Amino acid sequence: MLVIDPILPVVCVNDNYLKLKAGYLFPEIARRVQLFTQANPQADLIRLGIGDVTEPLPEACRVAMKVAIDEMGTEAGFRGYGPEQGYSWLREVIAKNDFQARGCDVSPEEIFVSDGSKCDSTNILDILGDQNRIAVTDPVYPVYVDSNVMAGHTGDASESGQYQGLVYLPISAANDFVAQLPSKPVDLIYLCFPNNPTGAVATFDQLSRWVEYAKEKKALILFDAAYEAFIQDESLPHSIYEIDGARDCAIELRSFSKNAGFTGTRCAFTVIPKTLTGRSLDDRQINIWDLWNRRQSTKFNGVSYIVQRGAEAIYSLEGKSQIRNLVDFYMENASIIRTNLSDSGLTVYGGENAPYVWIKTPEGISSWSFFDFLLNKANVVGTPGSGFGASGEGYFRLSAFNSRDNVELAMKRIRAL
Ligand code: MLT
Repeated sequence: MLVIDPILPVVCVNDNYLKLKAGYLFPEIARRVQLFTQANPQADLIRLGIGDVTEPLPEACRVAMKVAIDEMGTEAGFRGYGPEQGYSWLREVIAKNDFQARGCDVSPEEIFVSDGSKCDSTNILDILGDQNRIAVTDPVYPVYVDSNVMAGHTGDASESGQYQGLVYLPISAANDFVAQLPSKPVDLIYLCFPNNPTGAVATFDQLSRWVEYAKEKKALILFDAAYEAFIQDESLPHSIYEIDGARDCAIELRSFSKNAGFTGTRCAFTVIPKTLTGRSLDDRQINIWDLWNRRQSTKFNGVSYIVQRGAEAIYSLEGKSQIRNLVDFYMENASIIRTNLSDSGLTVYGGENAPYVWIKTPEGISSWSFFDFLLNKANVVGTPGSGFGASGEGYFRLSAFNSRDNVELAMKRIRAL
């Protein structure tokens, strides 16, 4: 007979959450920084930790949003619920500019506008089965791992922080931070290029190998291209759909957060090709676009009209040039960080086609010790590499998202150490 403890509530929690290691990385950093500032209220902190943009919204977006607000104030221009998938005019400019212009076969109906790539990368698990064998790189953007833990797709974490049941693909300088193909069978693979946290990029050849692998094994790639706008090298692919066959094995996540400064405004999109299929438990071939469309229609009411008009303006002539300036600005910051740290004798990676610089910590110094060292001695906040996975131990990430003055001052302080 079930005996209910009268002291305990009867409602059950999702026990999978109890497997999560400590806090999510960025709140944990915020907690430590708060302790530091309480103890050192005079400290002038420079935050190069979380990849959050600092520069004002592009004028083209602001103007478009103001016009949209005024429209909403009129009988004729007012809009209630929009399409859950996004307005067709936004999906059309995205398909044309981001994909068709690069030779990718992506139609507007395959674009689902959303409020963020982080949300999409976790929500997608709603439509995927619990039996999938999942591969992530190590280090990795922690959201991919934590969302699978929350969904019950893993066992407990080991001492090093790796969860049972996930297939970890180590990335390091030895493989140019591009994972080798898995030696064990996997069904779902998370790839992120330009990479967060390492700033690495994948060439056509490297991505083609992944697409071939996924097609052969009938696996699905979740390709996070949130940082594609930062690619400087013209020989590199921006989208996985530049690779033949990717329509049959890949979903792509894109965001306006970093290129257009929308981290607080919220707009992103996910591409689900209509040709993509998965398998049901009773071995039927199921269309993934249909499932995602069903999911979004049930659980999401779309991004606001005003924000979508702002996003549309990114693709106007002025918008494109303003976004180019923003990206160039942050990439100049990345270059300043790279040069200064290299000149200080540190080994640095990334920062050439991505807004993140991945730094090898000096011999024998752990990632969190280096975090504390920079926080205490230079009042600079970065992100410990070990927060991105066991193989990130001994590395440290600095983000290029800050003002020029702050980046220069941070480098001056680090060089003086
Ligand atoms: C990061 O710092 O890794 C980013 O802010 C992640 C994100 O965009 O969620």
